[in-house]
Amino acid sequence: MAKPVKAFVCSACGSVFPKWAGRCEACAAWNTLEERTTAPALPGGLKPQANAAGRRIEFVGLAGISPPPPRVPTTIAEFDRVLGGGLVAASVVLVGGDPGIGKSTLLLQAGAALGLAGRLVVYISGEESVDQIRLRAGRLGLTGAPMEVAAATQLGDILASLGQFPDAALVVIDSIQTMWTEGVDSAPGSVTQVRAAAFELIRAAKTQGFALMLVGHVTKEGNLAGPRVLEHMVDVVLHFEGDRGHQFRILRGVKNRFGATDEIGVFEMTGGGLAQVANPSALFLAERRGNVSGSAVFAGLEGSRPVLVEIQVLLAPNPGGAPRRSVIGWDSGRLSMLLAVLETRCGLKLSQNDVYLNVAGGLRVGEPAADLAVAAALISAASDVPTDPSMVFFGEVGLSGEVRQVAQAELRLKEAAKLGFAQAAGPKRVAGGAARMAVPGTLKLLEIGHLTDLVAVATAGVKRALQSKERG
Ligand code: TYD
Ligand code: MG
Repeated sequence: MAKPVKAFVCSACGSVFPKWAGRCEACAAWNTLEERTTAPALPGGLKPQANAAGRRIEFVGLAGISPPPPRVPTTIAEFDRVLGGGLVAASVVLVGGDPGIGKSTLLLQAGAALGLAGRLVVYISGEESVDQIRLRAGRLGLTGAPMEVAAATQLGDILASLGQFPDAALVVIDSIQTMWTEGVDSAPGSVTQVRAAAFELIRAAKTQGFALMLVGHVTKEGNLAGPRVLEHMVDVVLHFEGDRGHQFRILRGVKNRFGATDEIGVFEMTGGGLAQVANPSALFLAERRGNVSGSAVFAGLEGSRPVLVEIQVLLAPNPGGAPRRSVIGWDSGRLSMLLAVLETRCGLKLSQNDVYLNVAGGLRVGEPAADLAVAAALISAASDVPTDPSMVFFGEVGLSGEVRQVAQAELRLKEAAKLGFAQAAGPKRVAGGAARMAVPGTLKLLEIGHLTDLVAVATAGVKRALQSKERG
């Protein structure tokens, strides 16, 4: 029971004040405030209402069996993986990405695959004419796939027309920024329009039961344009990324109410559309040239999948001015930290050099586990000695130069062994789970406790290289 509170109430207007005053601040009447002791009032919204028409909600416990949501596989395995096993009925998926990265192509292919699997797919484009879509379908060899295609941007028309397809399994809207509703008085693409259009479409998806895929454009900063609010409204947010100069495309889960979010799907843009890449490591390493200094193979992890990528570093002397640090595919703050640690803890002086770092193949690496591979590439570049071409690297580096544990070391080692690598440099095995870690028979694990150990490995390489030169 809450304590009763003292208050002063104006007898003229009923306003309540915590302190007495000669004049009511609300109605300006004199000498009307009277002291009253009252039970604390409930906040306005919580007042019990005499004739409230709300239905009583049924509450349940956490135990009990709810069947997993039914899923429709798109039959594009890389896509299904990111979705968490296929499209969930009545769910809403937002696919974001730079213009020209291949969003329309991806959704047309996914729609066609579903159509060929016997589902009803509706594809509405606000960006391209039906002729353009047909032309693209021709290029992709998909003209035989059953699909209902239209070009439209007016939301009222779209919602009215969707009623014809009560059995639709998937509706694609390309893109949400081109849609507009008459009820809202602002331009298509504005936050209010996008939010209103998305709201209406989502409501239709939930009531009619079709899965809805919305294409969203990405701003220069990499956010889904205008509406971050969209990300809150939908069930799944996927980013389609890649470098337009490269053929690789990565579909990345950012939010998923029905599955894990850290999965990626890897595609290759070819003349005939997007092709799935089942073994990305082989592809990312395909163009690697051994015996070049400044390169190291990182045994990375994307979601549940190990991916090996090449990290490349180029050092260019810059004796005057401020040295440049240019990073593609990794975190530049992390590179600065690593350079500072290498300089302070290992005596590797790179402050007179421009540093260029590139993750080959256009992949964006977000893991701190790449630290050791980057350090190896930097040491290799600084000493002009290639890293051992049969070695992969993984491990997080701390500020004192210590090499720290990373997740799923076993998976990384397995992938390295599968691709024919003979050695792996990684963190020390510590007591606990990692001590029992299985190392594949064909692979030798070099346990690195501190960055200086890595430098020692590299300088041993320098010595060997010099000796063999002398002998040769
Ligand atoms: P698109 O799907 O239109 O991108 P978005 O919808 O994200 O803007 O893809 C456009 C690019 O893809 C275009 O520059 C050409 C390329 N492309 C191919 O290389 N091969 C193909 O088979 C297709 C259809 C497109
Ligand atoms: Mg497009």
